[in-house]
Amino acid sequence: MTRITDILGLEALREEILKHRSKDRTILRTCISTGCKAQKSLKVVEALKAAIKEQGLEEKVEIKKTGCHGFCEMGPIMVIEPENIFYRKVKPRDVEEILSTLNGSGGVVERLLWKDPVTKELTTYERELPLYKKQDKNVTYRSGKIDPADIEDYIASGGYSALAKALNSMKPSEVIDAVIASGLRGRGGGGFSTGVKWRICSSAPGDIKYIIANGDEGDPGAFMDRSLMEGDPHSIVEGMVITAYAIGASQGFIYVREEYPIAIEHLSLAIIKAEEYGLLGQDIMGTGFNFKVQINKGAGAFVCGEETSLMISIEGRSGTPRSRPPYPAIEGLWGKPTIINNVETLGNVPIIISKGADAYAALGTDGSKGTKVFSLVGKVQNTGLIEVEMGTTLREIIFGIGGGIRNGKHFKAVQTGGPSGGCIPIAKVDMPVDYDSLREAGAIMGSGGMIVMDETSCMVDVARYFIDFLMFESCGKCVPCREGLKQMHHIFENICEGHGEEGDIETLTGLARFMSTTSLCGLGSTAPNPVLSTIRHFRHEYESHIYDRKCRAGVCKNLFDYLIDSELCNGCGLCRVKCPEKAVAGEKKKPHIIDNSKCIKCGICFNSCKFEAILIK
Ligand SMILES: Cc1cc2nc3c(=O)[nH]c(=O)nc-3n(C[C@H](O)[C@H](O)[C@H](O)COP(=O)(O)O)c2cc1C
Ligand code: FES
Repeated sequence: MTRITDILGLEALREEILKHRSKDRTILRTCISTGCKAQKSLKVVEALKAAIKEQGLEEKVEIKKTGCHGFCEMGPIMVIEPENIFYRKVKPRDVEEILSTLNGSGGVVERLLWKDPVTKELTTYERELPLYKKQDKNVTYRSGKIDPADIEDYIASGGYSALAKALNSMKPSEVIDAVIASGLRGRGGGGFSTGVKWRICSSAPGDIKYIIANGDEGDPGAFMDRSLMEGDPHSIVEGMVITAYAIGASQGFIYVREEYPIAIEHLSLAIIKAEEYGLLGQDIMGTGFNFKVQINKGAGAFVCGEETSLMISIEGRSGTPRSRPPYPAIEGLWGKPTIINNVETLGNVPIIISKGADAYAALGTDGSKGTKVFSLVGKVQNTGLIEVEMGTTLREIIFGIGGGIRNGKHFKAVQTGGPSGGCIPIAKVDMPVDYDSLREAGAIMGSGGMIVMDETSCMVDVARYFIDFLMFESCGKCVPCREGLKQMHHIFENICEGHGEEGDIETLTGLARFMSTTSLCGLGSTAPNPVLSTIRHFRHEYESHIYDRKCRAGVCKNLFDYLIDSELCNGCGLCRVKCPEKAVAGEKKKPHIIDNSKCIKCGICFNSCKFEAILIK
């Protein structure tokens, strides 16, 4: 079969694509990624299609189904180009009105604009939203802009030019040198130098070498990798082909969990289309280089994100880790040298090759170059997917991009790095976010989860949550992890239920040190991080649970009571009406009281009181 790149060079193909694209059309960039799809964005697309047809606007208006824009809580999101007007929470019933503003009169549908929750000011343009304004989009810059199912959109935006550059003008060793010089470190958690790992693999003996893109992403609440795979799948394919060329591999695998169907669909289509265009498969771009990629679906076990378990899972066995060395770069899949990289790491590779190692290394700190994608969630005003330069401070992320803490509450801590990460207290809010600073603070970069907490978060309960998660996800192969996590779980259960004992903190610390030095894989060896970091920064909360039997955040139900402040209560009666146990009593316009023998501490009264009259005792 003749492929298009057999006839045209990539540059000529790009020019052809751009020549046939009308510049006068209005483009409605509508997000169909998981977050917006869950909020029925496909219905918006259907309504748009029908209305555009009915009004005969096909020549003037184009719907572009895109990946994630990052502001998922505001979905379904639509951005109108070329004006860059940002609409949020768009419904099918809004479509007629949106189309009516596209007559050049400059009108906007005000109720769909983003309103600042504090100042109540409206923002019209996407580029002016606080969530986007202070970001440095590098790896995620195409997501939300291009149609991930359209390879020509990717090519038109400069896609596959890094591959053309590498194949046509660089030796494999030069590609490796460039990646080493860029300072790129693995985005999957460990932060090992990507180029150094490639060099080890390329020098390992053997004709058969493999590449694996790790898209397992098992951290609770994380969605960076999913969004990248859904929104810009070709960047991962392109990164893989460049990696394959650098180390001399001819077969690659993308490991994605089954519960990411859109990512699987978009990646599968990207592979088919890249082969069709001569950018993957046999004789890529006529250079004689061959490389094939297949997708392997994982069943959703957290431990299968760990590289040795993942490889065993691809081999068709139950995913459990093995000890290292030998490292995969020397002895990996089916015993052959294998490069396993996180999908975000691979997404950085075309950028390094295109822009050059120096330009890439100009961003970031001494030990952490480039940018990093985070899922910013928790008690911040603006939650979503963000990308910032390495070294950006926590303050800039939480208050600048995230807009500060919700509901007038105060920042208490931020948890980074997923279940194996740690909690950083307010005292360190001005620290730069990079691999080394986070490690010094007792946390890790991990794959990029960032959970912001306020004074209603109990740090003992946070550690307990992650220990429980890891206990359920531990494969059970090694004793320190299997038994250590179970013991930690029991101790936390006792502390949070009011049965903590003197010595519990020391036992937890001892178990943590034992597990981190003796566990078989990273799951067990990093599992103590949430425990150690919360003990280090919030020891007083542990002591208050154990010795005073008090949870001042109002989370551990046996360790606090609700109390109505008679001075602040004006007797509006909302808490009385809302209480499911009828534990609140009082006459209208007179202070109410709570009967603690009936109260189940569901928190409905506390959260619904507009006068902050309900206190945690
Ligand atoms: C329990 C556990 C789970 C992991 N899950 C993931 C994951 O979901 N995605 C990922 O890229 N790396 C994950 N890792 C890290 C991988 O083992 C490996 O270091 C990484 O994929 C290497 O790619 P990088 O060098 O590009 O970071 C996990 C590690 C552990 C210990
Ligand atoms: S899924 Fe639509 S903005 Fe993230």
